[in-house]
Amino acid sequence: MTARPRKSWRRFRDPIHEHRNFRLTESRIAIAGHPLHAMLVAFPIALCMCTLGADALYWWTGDLFWPRAALWASGVGFLMGLLAGIAGTAELLLVPGIRIRAASWTHFILAVMLLSLLGANWGLRLTDPAGAVLPWGLLLSFLAAGMTGMTGWHGGKLVFDYGVGTQQDHRLPP
Ligand code: HEM
Repeated sequence: MTARPRKSWRRFRDPIHEHRNFRLTESRIAIAGHPLHAMLVAFPIALCMCTLGADALYWWTGDLFWPRAALWASGVGFLMGLLAGIAGTAELLLVPGIRIRAASWTHFILAVMLLSLLGANWGLRLTDPAGAVLPWGLLLSFLAAGMTGMTGWHGGKLVFDYGVGTQQDHRLPP
């Protein structure tokens, strides 16, 4: 026989968790139910790591190929990050079950900080790609890689821990 929850415990249930929109998390910016944001984030994540790799290889070899590679990787990574950010922000504002969760806003703040780093890392290189690498380009790439790790990990938490962006049966009790 299962014990019935005590009345005092029931009085203290999380009001946000009990909100009727809490389970409305299904993605709206999606292709056949698959969120566009999740498809786009792979590009800034991979290109940010490529920028760090190219900077490290320029430091190691002195080959001028690497600063040009880093210029393109950081630029395309930033622009694809902006696209991913637009898709994510639309999702955040349009989907009630995403908007209501504090964790979604934490991810937004982390992501905006990351996009600023990606933009700065590209802007720094535009006039002199090779001269920009040491030390500031490499330092920015390093910071951006760490920030990408945190933002990406947190995005995964939204999906796999909270079911954000997924279809949930809101007829079930919480
Ligand atoms: C700028 C504003 C951003 C907002 C508002 C935002 C919002 C979201 C939302 C709502 C989700 C849940 C899935 C969905 O509904 O699409 C998500 C997932 C995710 N986000 Fe963001 N995001 C932003 C930027 C970024 C950036 C720049 C990155 C790059 C690191 C990122 C990485 C991720 C990852 C890895 C996931 C998990 C995707 C999956 O595995 O399905 N996000 N984000």
